[in-house]
Amino acid sequence: MGKGVLVTGGTGYIGSHTVVELIEAGYEVIIVDNLSNSDESVIEGIEAITGIRPEFVKADCRDIDALEKIFKKGKIDSIIHFAAAKAVGESVEQPLEYYHNNILSLINIISLMRRHNVPNMVFSSSCTVYGQPEVLPATEQTPRLEAESPYGNTKRICEDIIRDSVKAYGSINAIALRYFNPIGAHPSALIGELPRGVPNNLLPYVTQTAAGIREVLSIFGDDYNTPDGFCIRDYIDINDLAAAHVAALDRMLDGKMKKSFEVFNIGTGQGVSTMEIVKTFEQVNGLQLNYRITGRREGDIEAIWADPSYANEELGWYARKSLYETLRSAWKWQQRLCGIDISDE
Ligand code: NAD
Ligand code: UFG
Repeated sequence: MGKGVLVTGGTGYIGSHTVVELIEAGYEVIIVDNLSNSDESVIEGIEAITGIRPEFVKADCRDIDALEKIFKKGKIDSIIHFAAAKAVGESVEQPLEYYHNNILSLINIISLMRRHNVPNMVFSSSCTVYGQPEVLPATEQTPRLEAESPYGNTKRICEDIIRDSVKAYGSINAIALRYFNPIGAHPSALIGELPRGVPNNLLPYVTQTAAGIREVLSIFGDDYNTPDGFCIRDYIDINDLAAAHVAALDRMLDGKMKKSFEVFNIGTGQGVSTMEIVKTFEQVNGLQLNYRITGRREGDIEAIWADPSYANEELGWYARKSLYETLRSAWKWQQRLCGIDISDE
């Protein structure tokens, strides 16, 4: 099996870090992205890190004809499908756009895999499919609950579409990676997260507050049933998460899959509270963050973290970076975005 990989959504946050890992592992990458939530300049960052410029095609995964032109070039052996819209709040306001984008894009990809005999796909799923588990940590057997948002529902539906397609068509292998909370940036600070507008997620809000772009970080709720009263998540370093995709592809190409559709939790196994993130961020970066504690955010899960042992055993993949390194990289990236000289760091 060849090493050509089509990476949809490859200029995005997780996609770009994964492209770096893929190139460093000897894969030949073609990126397709419609740039709806990313910037083409990310390619420069990838090239600066790896010395290799991946092929880039600006196209929309909802446009099957545009996608097919890429498949017809015949250089694709596997696919990593990241392309999706991902803002939870926006998905509540615009459910049809979310169902249309996330589901049609996947259906097009699977249809073209069949038509062009491309057997392998890694799919970006999310721990959001577990909702609030009754028992923690969450394993892959933890029941999936009804989704809290249209976005979350697209992940559940996409997993089901993949499961049914793999079963019916026989010619496709797929691995769904259920990500916990990815944070941080590449240690070079040449690529990182580029949130548009006011960030919804914790880490970009923290770094933008530290940089003075946001006045104050609101911490949503201190009265949860957790040791310190704050919500708990499993924050996974973006570079570790990226490496999990290489491990998944290697497994497929080496013929090591035990079933033609497999699911893995990708997390650290450690639950960390929102306040622990804030305090550790202050400590490792030697600064003070302006924050206030406000009411709970509607729909927030109280606590979730992963049992990653299945990925550890089967993929040989482990989360390696410390929270210190990750929070350092997040701040370094934010400084670079703000044009602050980080060359001595
Ligand atoms: P991102 O927005 O940075 O990356 C997604 C990329 O897909 C963007 O570059 C966007 O321009 C592109 N895109 C969107 N719709 C497209 C379409 N129709 N055609 C072509 N390109 C399209 O997001 P991310 O954080 O890198 O997330 C990547 C994947 O991982 C998504 O599927 C997301 O749902 C999933 N995920 C993310 C998280 C997280 O916390 N970041 C957690 C779990 C799962
Ligand atoms: N938080 C704050 N203040 C903020 C932002 C977040 O206190 O300004 C808190 C939240 O209440 C939560 C924690 O920080 O307790 C993490 O919040 P995020 O929004 O960063 O992450 P979530 O776990 O809520 O959700 C994210 C993605 C979802 C995805 C999920 C699991 O937004 O799409 O991770 O992968 F499904």
